[in-house]
Amino acid sequence: MRSEPASPISGVEMRLRSLHLRPIHPADLPLLREFVKHLSQDTGYKRLLSGRTPTEDELRRWSAIDVSREGAIVAIDKGPNGERLVGVARYVMQSPDETDFAIVIADAWQRRGLGRELMTRLIAAARAHGVRNLSGIALSTNFAMRSLARAMGFEAARMSDALAIKLSLDLSNTDVHAGNATGANPSDADQRASSSR
Ligand SMILES: CC(C)(COP(=O)(O)OP(=O)(O)OC[C@H]1O[C@@H](n2cnc3c(N)ncnc32)[C@H](O)[C@@H]1OP(=O)(O)O)[C@@H](O)C(=O)NCCC(=O)NCCS
Repeated sequence: MRSEPASPISGVEMRLRSLHLRPIHPADLPLLREFVKHLSQDTGYKRLLSGRTPTEDELRRWSAIDVSREGAIVAIDKGPNGERLVGVARYVMQSPDETDFAIVIADAWQRRGLGRELMTRLIAAARAHGVRNLSGIALSTNFAMRSLARAMGFEAARMSDALAIKLSLDLSNTDVHAGNATGANPSDADQRASSSR
């Protein structure tokens, strides 16, 4: 009797196989510090819309989040030389209708499907925590973020400053493509990326 062939593994699944996606916690501060230190100038600029380096206070705040109104998912590469943080996506809720998101992926991991994976999980987590509208600011020239956001159902609006755009996703619309994702809650994300796909 012939056994069923194994289900095909997508290219993205293969590339993300070594990564562990989970909610951030305060003990991640040293990993976050290293991550930020090694970002290229271009990537750091696109994340903060400025050439400055995050302060130690900011790094502390970004790792020890207030889970009642914030969510952050990190991607950890567990290599032979220890753990490295290679991506993080987060939201901060001012109110359900006013929630900001931000994402940044290590240069070497860009264009490998990680941004999409983290955004998918972040959106599902935000939705599960009652967020109705998720928005973020990006440089108008940030075609990678614009394209990723468009693919996930975000709308782009010009800002008064022509250098930036506002990306918004209406999560009250249950048909939003990205909201149908798996790995909904950061607490569910504590598993191998590959096992959830
Ligand atoms: C924007 C960013 C998060 C995208 O993450 P990523 O892991 O590289 O993206 P993915 O590999 O998951 O790509 C998902 C989709 O985004 C788009 N995209 C990603 N990189 C792109 C690029 N360089 N050019 C054009 N489109 C791009 C594509 O539509 C892509 O889908 P495809 O691969 O099927 O074509 C990443 O480039 C980054 O960290 N940039 C610096 C920080 C930043 O810009 N943050 C946003 C402001 S909050």
